[in-house]
Amino acid sequence: MLITPRRDNLNKIVILNPKGGCGKSTLATNLAASYAQTGATPAIMDYDPQGSTTAWLERRPDDLPGIHGIAAFKKTMQATRSWQLRVPNDTVNLLVDSPASLNHDDLRELTRDSTSILVPVLPSSMDIHAASRCIADLLLVAKVDRRDRKLAVVANRTRKNTKSFAKLMRFLDSLGIPIIAVLRDSQNFVRSAEEGIGLCEMPPSRVKPDVAELNKIIEWLDAWPQRRRDPAATRSFGNQRTAGRSLLRRPRFGSA
Ligand SMILES: Nc1ncnc2c1ncn2[C@@H]1O[C@H](COP(=O)(O)OP(=O)(O)O)[C@@H](O)[C@H]1O
Ligand SMILES: [Mg+2]
Repeated sequence: MLITPRRDNLNKIVILNPKGGCGKSTLATNLAASYAQTGATPAIMDYDPQGSTTAWLERRPDDLPGIHGIAAFKKTMQATRSWQLRVPNDTVNLLVDSPASLNHDDLRELTRDSTSILVPVLPSSMDIHAASRCIADLLLVAKVDRRDRKLAVVANRTRKNTKSFAKLMRFLDSLGIPIIAVLRDSQNFVRSAEEGIGLCEMPPSRVKPDVAELNKIIEWLDAWPQRRRDPAATRSFGNQRTAGRSLLRRPRFGSA
């Protein structure tokens, strides 16, 4: 069983999708780098045994703003689990990077007390199908209440004018789940992974459109207290249970 920290003012951002390679670690590291540039030292909790975000942190140059790393995937005999997973008291933003597969108990535990949940999705039919299963699990297993408006999709490596992208948009629209950013396929992300830096730490002329999309995500994430409190915005949502079930029943996507 996973143990996650509980603290009222902690902005706990969980990034998940069981599909490997969809961009979870890329998002976790780049969002952490953006937060590191602007305020209190953020933290990344790495639950993936592959340890990609932990390795990224190890590559991170010393002269860049610090990011606190927690290698949650490591099992330690020396310390209690809660001690191992402790988040520094002054942490405001915690990014949780998740592994490729999670059992139901772990999914519930990982998302508990989250302020935001991001699901990165690649634009192929298989990926979209996997993402829809993931969203169904979040609604039905983890009991994420869509009225809390904490769930959003980030379309990654996307070419906007494809059929599968249009289908993804229609599908999420029908569920009332927003796509808050569309990241293009770019070598900048590959370089970011290799060098332990965020796109916001690269020459602006090179990364302008990518950073603009990442900033949209940050803007959405930072609005979590307002999202929860604004009752007007919850009215547009239909019946959560019904929507979740129909999501599980219907295979919806053709080929790209
Ligand atoms: N928008 C993008 N453009 C180009 N390469 C990307 C993009 N997003 C992710 N990648 C690359 O795709 C690979 C998988 O991404 P990663 O974030 O590790 O996925 P996950 O954590 O979901 O398994 C990595 O090599 C990463 O650098
Ligand atoms: Mg990863």
